[in-house]
Amino acid sequence: MYATRSTQYATRNTDLLIPYPLSPISMDTIIILDFGSQYAQLIARRVREAGVYCELLPWDTPVEEVMGLNPKGFILSGGPASVYAPDAPQVPAYVLQSGLPVLGICYGMQALTHALGGKVAPSGEREYGPARLSTLKKNLLLPDADYQVWMSHGDRIEEVPPGFLPLARSDNSPIAAMGDLSRKYFGVQFHPEVHHTPSGGQILRRFVLDICQAAAEWTPEAIIQESVTRIRSQVRDERVLAAVSGGVDSSVAAALVHHAIGEQLIAVFVDTGLLRQGENLQVVKTFQQNLGLELVTVDAVEQFMRPLQGITDPEEKRRVIGETFIRVFEAQARELGSPRFLVQGTIYPDVVESSAPDRAQAERIKTHHNVGGLPEDMEFELVEPLRYLFKDEVRAVGTALGLPGELVWRQPFPGPGLAVRCLGEVTEERLEKLRAADAILTEELQAAGLLQMGKRDREISGTAQAFTVLLPVRSVGVMGDQRTYQEAVAIRAVTTEDFMTADWARLPHDLLGRIANRIVNEVHGINRVVYDITSKPPATIEWE
Ligand code: XMP
Repeated sequence: MYATRSTQYATRNTDLLIPYPLSPISMDTIIILDFGSQYAQLIARRVREAGVYCELLPWDTPVEEVMGLNPKGFILSGGPASVYAPDAPQVPAYVLQSGLPVLGICYGMQALTHALGGKVAPSGEREYGPARLSTLKKNLLLPDADYQVWMSHGDRIEEVPPGFLPLARSDNSPIAAMGDLSRKYFGVQFHPEVHHTPSGGQILRRFVLDICQAAAEWTPEAIIQESVTRIRSQVRDERVLAAVSGGVDSSVAAALVHHAIGEQLIAVFVDTGLLRQGENLQVVKTFQQNLGLELVTVDAVEQFMRPLQGITDPEEKRRVIGETFIRVFEAQARELGSPRFLVQGTIYPDVVESSAPDRAQAERIKTHHNVGGLPEDMEFELVEPLRYLFKDEVRAVGTALGLPGELVWRQPFPGPGLAVRCLGEVTEERLEKLRAADAILTEELQAAGLLQMGKRDREISGTAQAFTVLLPVRSVGVMGDQRTYQEAVAIRAVTTEDFMTADWARLPHDLLGRIANRIVNEVHGINRVVYDITSKPPATIEWE
């Protein structure tokens, strides 16, 4: 299996997650039971997009935990098993005893069929890809005559359970949807959660709003209100520390805690000297102007640069930076009288992945080199205001709290900062060159409308991430009548939805030409610019 570096370091320190408190949200809740589907998180996102709060839990979560959340309905996810296999996950009895509406998706439908006395059979043909669904009996879930859907299944329903009707068919599945309309049980063989099922979002919306009758209460304002109550009851009058890096999650987490407890929050910004042009001042100014929050700024540039001297190995750079960050942060925390609580920007996908069945096992490899990562031996109680939120919800909350678009829609930036984009030794002089080149790239992309700022994830037309890399090679050039022998810069610009795979951005040639020209003319010491046209895999997005 292709092991990505990003999963090693881009994930946060999920080892340190505390088991999450139950019933955190006093809103109508839908429970999605995860049978190991690779799309489980997408189901949750679609439900949340319908404005309804939901939780994604492993299928074998204890009944008290699930029912403690006071659900309005259940969605059973797909999964890789076959219902008749010896250890196949089954629909928990409490789901059927609850009297609540149930929607089974793919394996979830098969498990429901099996549990209620219908028949599931291995299909002669595996059905994978787009399919046309014809409705046999119009109903609340499927009110239209036909649908374009996405299939991915082997087994199929041969006989619906007593009380059920076949509701739709496809070429390969005579029973592609079924329902017991009086008990409000539904099953669909296709995947409504993926975007290849264009009206899938509507189908899920009808299930949660019309069939489960859950109220659409999950708005940024409501999220903020809930969080404020929860944060206040957790920390009471204690002081809380937050490390702000300028990244989206740490910024929104700090903003939310500040909104809840005001001056009890002390937000620390460590200037590592490895940020982009003007970024340190911008972060401090943004917090001050938009939130009225004074960041405690620690100028640690010297402390980071010294141990980086002479180091060229990428892993060694990460290690040194990670360790330095922890030392600097520890010293600062002591100076501030060691507050009892620490804000952590853990978001919902981290929480879900650390508790999911098999699926995420392979992805949970971590090193602890991430700048901004929590010092492991420090004794803090964690405040995690984003642990129920997906990334787009984090952005919506950030916006509602008054954080500016440039911050909320920022492209990701690696924890070790420019150190991993300055190949070879990291020196002040080389960082300056890199910063200047990077600023030109950003400016030109922004002018061309190709920085993804301000757009929603699914409307990406520009670059998901774009930056320059300073290469430790020198090449010959000619400027005026002079021979030059200088360093080169690589431009890296990618399109991606999830950063696990990526393609190089097809930037217009004229634009690339203009950027190259400006870099060579304006950045002293650079005489060549190259464009990186490798996808990920086999390359990674960052060069180190
Ligand atoms: P790669 O280079 O593995 O990067 O394709 C995938 C994504 O992760 C970001 N990245 C990091 N994020 N700490 C982070 O928080 C890090 O050390 C780190 N290194 C890479 C990278 O920018 C890309 O978005």
